[in-house]
Amino acid sequence: MKSSAIRQNFLDFFASKGHTVVASSPLVPGNDPTLLFTNAGMVQFKDVFTGHDTRPYTRAVSSQRCVRAGGKHNDLENVGYTARHHTFFEMLGNFSFGDYFKQEAIKYAWEFLTDVLKLPADKLWVTVYFDDDEAYGIWHNDIGVPKERIVRIGDNKGGRYASDNFWAMGDTGPCGPCTEIFYDHGPEVAGGPPGSPDEDGDRYIEIWNNVFMQFNRDEAGTMHPLPKPSVDTGMGLERISAVMQHVHSNYEIDLFQALIAAAARETDTADSSNNSLKVIADHIRACAFLIVDGVIPGNEGRGYVLRRIIRRAIRHGYKLGARAAFFHRLVPDLAAAMGEAYPELVAAQTRVTDILRQEEERFFETIEHGMGILEATLKTLPAGGTFDGELAFKLHDTYGFPLDLTADICREANVNVDTAAFDTAMARQKAQARAAGKFRLGAGLDYAGEATVFHGYDTLTHDATVLALYKDGSLVSELKEGELGVVVLDHTPFYAESGGQAGDRGVLQSTQGQFEVEDTLKIQAQVFGHHGMVKTGSLVVGDAVLARVDEVARARTMRNHSVTHLMHKALREVLGEHVQQKGSLVDSEKTRFDFVQPAPMTDAQIREVEARVNAEILANSATQARVMGIEDAQKTGAMMLFGEKYGDEVRVLDIGSSRELCGGTHVARTGDIGLFKIVGESGVAAGVRRVEAVTGDSALNYFQYLDTQRNGIATLLKTHPDDINHKVISIQEHVKSLEKELDRLKSKLAASTGDELVQQAVDVGGVRVLAAQLDGVDAKGLRETADKLRDKLKSCALVLGTVADGKVSLIAAVTPDVTGRIKAGELVNFVATQVGGKGGGKPDMAMAGGSEPARLPAALAAVQAWTQARLT
Ligand code: ALA
Repeated sequence: MKSSAIRQNFLDFFASKGHTVVASSPLVPGNDPTLLFTNAGMVQFKDVFTGHDTRPYTRAVSSQRCVRAGGKHNDLENVGYTARHHTFFEMLGNFSFGDYFKQEAIKYAWEFLTDVLKLPADKLWVTVYFDDDEAYGIWHNDIGVPKERIVRIGDNKGGRYASDNFWAMGDTGPCGPCTEIFYDHGPEVAGGPPGSPDEDGDRYIEIWNNVFMQFNRDEAGTMHPLPKPSVDTGMGLERISAVMQHVHSNYEIDLFQALIAAAARETDTADSSNNSLKVIADHIRACAFLIVDGVIPGNEGRGYVLRRIIRRAIRHGYKLGARAAFFHRLVPDLAAAMGEAYPELVAAQTRVTDILRQEEERFFETIEHGMGILEATLKTLPAGGTFDGELAFKLHDTYGFPLDLTADICREANVNVDTAAFDTAMARQKAQARAAGKFRLGAGLDYAGEATVFHGYDTLTHDATVLALYKDGSLVSELKEGELGVVVLDHTPFYAESGGQAGDRGVLQSTQGQFEVEDTLKIQAQVFGHHGMVKTGSLVVGDAVLARVDEVARARTMRNHSVTHLMHKALREVLGEHVQQKGSLVDSEKTRFDFVQPAPMTDAQIREVEARVNAEILANSATQARVMGIEDAQKTGAMMLFGEKYGDEVRVLDIGSSRELCGGTHVARTGDIGLFKIVGESGVAAGVRRVEAVTGDSALNYFQYLDTQRNGIATLLKTHPDDINHKVISIQEHVKSLEKELDRLKSKLAASTGDELVQQAVDVGGVRVLAAQLDGVDAKGLRETADKLRDKLKSCALVLGTVADGKVSLIAAVTPDVTGRIKAGELVNFVATQVGGKGGGKPDMAMAGGSEPARLPAALAAVQAWTQARLT
């Protein structure tokens, strides 16, 4: 039975039991920064289990694409070493949301395996959570599984909820005890039943996990009972396919055969059982689908996991002899193998190929060097030896070898990497980078006093006391007129740069002086530094000041920040859920927003985003900011950014219909934004687009600028602004007809020049000789004229010269009947040598150049006499 048939049978079976067929969700979980990748079928239903979300159904079935390559469930290290670990796999699962529980779940699973797939009952073993007597009873009494084949697992080894047969999606979230079904591959394979000392062997393989979801674990580890006991099951499609196709390794199933063949083809590998081919086949699936779902290779978070998988694949290709990008060429094979089940893969094929190719080409630039160092070092180490962590860091830093890649290569040589030394080197480099950053920002100042209390959400002026002053990075007690420095206050309405929003500008006014704040930056998480200069008087530690934010600049910044939330939402609506923020910069002039998006936005898409955002502005709804615990915030469905560190308390911002976690300052009502206009759309990296937009008076300025420009053009065109298009078209047509006319006149002129020149030719011994200077012709024109003249003059020897940009160009032409006496090359050289040049060519046609135009007339005048000697 082919994998695709198993997948379909599974969906059909559960549909016939009242389950709604739900499509696979993307690998990047929506709105769940706690989770790196979708690692199980239940991920898209997480909130349904906890009761924070409802669906129109209580039973669901899906075939979910999953990646286990980071976080709690990580199989990356095992790929290539076992018969059934994958970074990417498909999980077949049925789900009950407070509908059926243990009884039906077990019954359905058994029926599907024994009735639909027709697996022999005596090949199946089951495990139950050690004290789950209910599940045990169902298996034994209702299903009839003999006691010898039911194993209780989970002996509190790591604590009650950390043992086997207790499944959790991550450190937090829904979890519960489970029952697992095993398939016995037969006595010819080594290994013992689950729970036995030999259970790690390959004979008894877990094929299906049925989880009885009962708890939601919070960050403190406390288990909260779920509103309704539920069911979450997962069966790896690759494993069950191996069983159904009577093969022992997942890599032998139909789904993998084409990919392994493609990997062999691209790396020129004859032995199709080579382990590296399996790794490549596994990794192309993970990498391609991660890119389909919006992940881009990078140095952090999901992007770094993707980069590591790609580099691991490349290294295996390298091992097989590949010395140039090959991995991306597997994408069409993958699309052929899996495109039917995943049309989104086919749609994204070009983008996936491009991104992989770029990433590969980059790594191929350094891999050779890195491998050279690595292999040379490995040769010096005995089996069981230790690889220097500093060197591993150098490989990482200089040659782009992720630590796990180095570790993987070392593992093949039975060598360990000193990861502690690696970590130390990494920490040292980070500290250096931080120190460099501090210097640049003028932050990182020594400060041990009170934190700054921020009032800038509610007010733009506030009384404050100067707590500390800095000049040239050092503490001082006073800043004098004209001096640059940094001021720390106990209270401030100034927003310090963070979350992509620029720091505030403004003024600190005391009775003794005025300090102009040019920027506000954090010195420490809770300590704000006001950077600027004393304009008048002086500022002394202990002074009372009135801190006043530049309200115009702040209002502009707030508009740009609030509109960024609206735009983010509109982009997701118009372009799709793959749009993820990659960076943003909001200041008083504009908002700049980078996001994952494969193709440039079309004009229509830009218009649509503008229309949606401006509709939100016109709706003029009030902004709502609520401070709450992170858990509660997650439940509100607020947009959270992956990789962003959120504190325990967060601010949930509702602006129009958008909802995001954000610490920035925002408009009170969407109407305050005034107007929104996108002014730029461009690409910043593979798969990342950048949109720049303006609001309020800046948007007005933009329109006024366009209007002024348009009016100016109309004036130049002597027409009404509304008629510009018309006028430009008619001018273009006019220009075209003038050009035609010009061409016609030029050839006419050339012809008459030709005629004139024909007249100038003199007869020397029966040969017409011509030496003339033409003006305003280029090399091409010179050649054409020479050709024409040669035709007209029949038996002739001619040389033409022209001058442009202080240089002489020459051409000589001689008819075949004359070349016996005069060669074009000699003729052209005779002239060229007199004008500071040299040339040559064939007997009938030769070109030359010269650098002394002033001597051209005399040189040409000498030609006749020169020919005389040769022709008579
Ligand atoms: N969510 C369960 C698992 O992944 C079914 O094993």
